[in-house]
Amino acid sequence: MCGIVGYNGKNKAVDILLDGLSKLEYRGYDSAGIAIRDKDITIFKAKGKLSNLKEKLANEKLKGTCGIGHTRWATHGEPNENNAHPHISNDGNITLVHNGIIENYQEIVEKLKRHNYKFYSETDTEVLANIIDYYYKKYKIGPIDAINRTMVRVRGSYAIAVMFKDYPDEIWVARKDSPMIIGEAKDGMYVASDVPAILKYTRNVYYIDNLEAACLKKDKVIFYDLNGDIIQKELKEIKWDLSVAEKGGYEHFMIKEINEEPDVIKKTISYYTGNDKIDFAKSNLNKEDLKNIKEIYIVACGSAYHVGVCAAYVIEDLTRIPVRVDIASEFRYRKPILNKDSLVVIISQSGETADSLAALREAKNAGVKTLGIVNVVGSSIAREADHVLYTMAGPEIAVATTKAFSTQLIVCYLLAIELAMVKEQITKKEYIELLKEINTLPTKVESILKDSTNTIQKLSSQFASIHDAFYIGRGLDYAISLEGSLKLKEVSYIHSEAYAAGELKHGTISLIEDNTLVIGIVTQEYIAEKTISNLIEVKSRGGYIVSIAPKNIDTSKASNFILTIPETSKYFYPSLTVIPLQLLAYYMTVSRGLDVDKPRNLAKSVTVE
Ligand code: F6R
Repeated sequence: MCGIVGYNGKNKAVDILLDGLSKLEYRGYDSAGIAIRDKDITIFKAKGKLSNLKEKLANEKLKGTCGIGHTRWATHGEPNENNAHPHISNDGNITLVHNGIIENYQEIVEKLKRHNYKFYSETDTEVLANIIDYYYKKYKIGPIDAINRTMVRVRGSYAIAVMFKDYPDEIWVARKDSPMIIGEAKDGMYVASDVPAILKYTRNVYYIDNLEAACLKKDKVIFYDLNGDIIQKELKEIKWDLSVAEKGGYEHFMIKEINEEPDVIKKTISYYTGNDKIDFAKSNLNKEDLKNIKEIYIVACGSAYHVGVCAAYVIEDLTRIPVRVDIASEFRYRKPILNKDSLVVIISQSGETADSLAALREAKNAGVKTLGIVNVVGSSIAREADHVLYTMAGPEIAVATTKAFSTQLIVCYLLAIELAMVKEQITKKEYIELLKEINTLPTKVESILKDSTNTIQKLSSQFASIHDAFYIGRGLDYAISLEGSLKLKEVSYIHSEAYAAGELKHGTISLIEDNTLVIGIVTQEYIAEKTISNLIEVKSRGGYIVSIAPKNIDTSKASNFILTIPETSKYFYPSLTVIPLQLLAYYMTVSRGLDVDKPRNLAKSVTVE
């Protein structure tokens, strides 16, 4: 949700900022802007994608070696140049970029208006520039004092990078509930809202915590707490491979990331298993902790929530522990009744999703043990949860999640299997067999990619102009239908719905017309016949049925088209069925000529409510 990059060093800032912003564009792409400090501060902004800003800068000779940049996902005010960041205070004393939301900005606008401040934009960010300016001039103590007073005065979430006119060789930053890292390199200091923006220049980073600030000089960074006292931070090394933030010959990040799935699934399995055992020691989650769990809540948003829906089927079936799955934005406000011996699992790729983070805090306040299943190392959810199981997906750049989803599923299966063993619901032999089977998934996913990509590409061009699609299944097949449907609608803008196959007759079947596309997922042998009957009902009303099923389930009577997938344990089918669903969403979108990596109105990492 918006991207920030900043640089203070020996090299030309403009190239570094534009390069960094190009790696962050997945966080927002309504408008972009930079501010470069030479003698004075010069600001350039453009509406729309970063390419517009680049065009504007093509003939500019910007020599400054200090600057800040921003790519925006609009919250307050429409996406136009006036509302684009950087924003400046009334007399240009403060130049600032901001991620997040200032909840009490109206109240601060009123206060500042009483002191003759004027406002030119509709954003909540401009208010930050002016309130910092106000405190800076009122108390005359300096940047850290003005920033800290601002942090105490404003409510909401923010990561800010600020340039003070009076301090030409410094960039000041601060954050609360919005991610930000600081990179240290020989040539200078970097700040960014996400690792890919600076990975090319340095792997050495500091994580700045909530309500902390820092001053980036050309050769060092100084950290401060809310009292203005200097604090020490540990330099951490990012282990990600640089190539993961590049398209590497693929046309889009989404298809590249889909093709990375066999590898990241394998990495995630091997991270937690070995010698026929699951080992969660890295997360300090020991057998005793697991033994005492009587109830599980899984809380997440979007696709991560769908992983939770799948996980609930698997965990309940394998362990007989009751599982409740909640959408984080609902959970946080519905005063959930949480027993002390329950476990709250928060699933999040970014580890920064505002609602998921708030849900985690709710659970912690209730004194309940929390577990984060998180992809981004050092993110807020990873840091605040009692236990963390990291997914090994590496950086995910496409806005629509694919590979992170698949690795989250794997961690949930492993959690279910380990819980089942600890709770003595399965035998050692069954445990080993499940582990053996889970290890076959990377190869099976690879074979689906190899065998179905071309077929799905053709199918997609045939159906590219449809307006509606339906996804149906039962049990785990219904759970994965939810994800298939979301994937299609978010990138292709085709309206789609996922339905429990048995529920269609209760209303939705009236939407079926000649050639309505219906994806039937049929992997669960014990209820396959029932789903097949539902598909036949739809087909006889004109629906065009594409079924996804393993060889041992015959869907021919119910299908116009069959996508066959390899066989696996009933628990693991979502890992296989999701692949054709992701491919379908991808190719439908490409056939419609849309920007699949940056769907309209969306941004990766939703750090606002
Ligand atoms: C859909 C998608 C979103 C995210 C959701 C949660 O493709 O990516 O629905 O799954 O915004 O994000 P994280 O996992 O970062 O908490």
